[in-house]
Amino acid sequence: MSYGDKRTYRQYANAFSQLPMPYAYLDLEYLRYNITDILNRSGQKQVRIASKSIRSVSVLRYILERDCRFSGVMCYSAQEAVCLAERGLDDLLIGYPVWNEESIRAICCLIKQGKTIVFMVDDVKHVDRIAYFAREEQVVLPICLDIDMSTQLYGLYFGVRRSPVRSVGEAVTMAEYILSQPFIRLEGLMGYEAQIAGVGDHTPKQALKNMIITYLKRRSIEEIANKRLELAYELKKRDIHFRFFNGGGTGSLHSTCKEDVINEVTVGSGFYGPALFDSYRDFQCAPAAGYAIEIVRLPKEGVFTCHGGGYTGSGATGTDKLPQPYLPLGSRLLAQEGAGEVQTPIMYKGEERLQLGDPVFMRHSKAGELCERFKTLHCYEYGQITGQIKTYRGEGWCFV
Ligand SMILES: Cc1ncc(COP(=O)(O)O)c(C=O)c1O
Repeated sequence: MSYGDKRTYRQYANAFSQLPMPYAYLDLEYLRYNITDILNRSGQKQVRIASKSIRSVSVLRYILERDCRFSGVMCYSAQEAVCLAERGLDDLLIGYPVWNEESIRAICCLIKQGKTIVFMVDDVKHVDRIAYFAREEQVVLPICLDIDMSTQLYGLYFGVRRSPVRSVGEAVTMAEYILSQPFIRLEGLMGYEAQIAGVGDHTPKQALKNMIITYLKRRSIEEIANKRLELAYELKKRDIHFRFFNGGGTGSLHSTCKEDVINEVTVGSGFYGPALFDSYRDFQCAPAAGYAIEIVRLPKEGVFTCHGGGYTGSGATGTDKLPQPYLPLGSRLLAQEGAGEVQTPIMYKGEERLQLGDPVFMRHSKAGELCERFKTLHCYEYGQITGQIKTYRGEGWCFV
């Protein structure tokens, strides 16, 4: 599936011509394309939205309302879960362990009021702490167990350092421990295969690296599927039940969804389609979100220096974490300067007669960084601005 008509520089420049720069935008036609594509790629699984890659209540709602298979949100902080619950969102899985007492107690209150908010654990100490506050607050708390899905191949560690619960045996022991505690219940399992979902295998000009990654991924996918199947079997054998088994991310839908034991997948980045997600072989997201920076200097012919722009992505540093000039086509960053905090020079060769005051449209690299920099997203549809929505920053929220 391809996202059809490609936007031109003039389309966006004309539609947004009255806005002061910098501004961020969301192309709703492209967002809807991505939503449909994600639903198609996720088979019949429920889809949980990774809010870290969205960071706007309005966009979360927009997606949730479009299909009943969008079944809940994976939050990235307990405080965020509280804020979303207060705004009426429900079925919130906190994707990462929480230690802060105040946050745990705040969530206890919301659960008492009937909200579904699930804590993530990967350590007996997490379990004990949640069970302790649950007892104090006299409420039963739902818990999800995070199981490590990394692969060790030829002495190479292919994955992330998160959960210490690695083997099926360790996961079963943890599940039994959770069940043995009063005031908590096992609501779900999560096994996130970051090395499949978050690693591109179709990066331009990197044929050898792509080949190696494709091979590692293939081996890792097999191992993960066997591990999740064995775990589900072992738990069933012990009569241990849970509501969901969550896995995957934008970059792994094609493989995660083939596993029968997985009943929900998580997707975040695929909705905005940031630049890093251009380098996957199996799918193509539409570039739905981006931002415009203003040309304020002309240091030499063919170089257009803009104000702002350096909103880099998180993770191991590399040029892939830099934002990418998008429109006009033929724009690129200078290797010596990249995207700067206050100034970003853009090299441009093409037909547009760019001048001082003109926009250059950029795409952020990864996921959440765009909405941490702008209070609003200007919505674009059918050649014009059709609205303006708040980001978390616009709500006055800043969680991590
Ligand atoms: C636990 C977990 N699940 C799923 C995802 C997938 O998110 P995305 O679709 O934005 O890549 C992530 C991203 O880091 C994650 O941490």
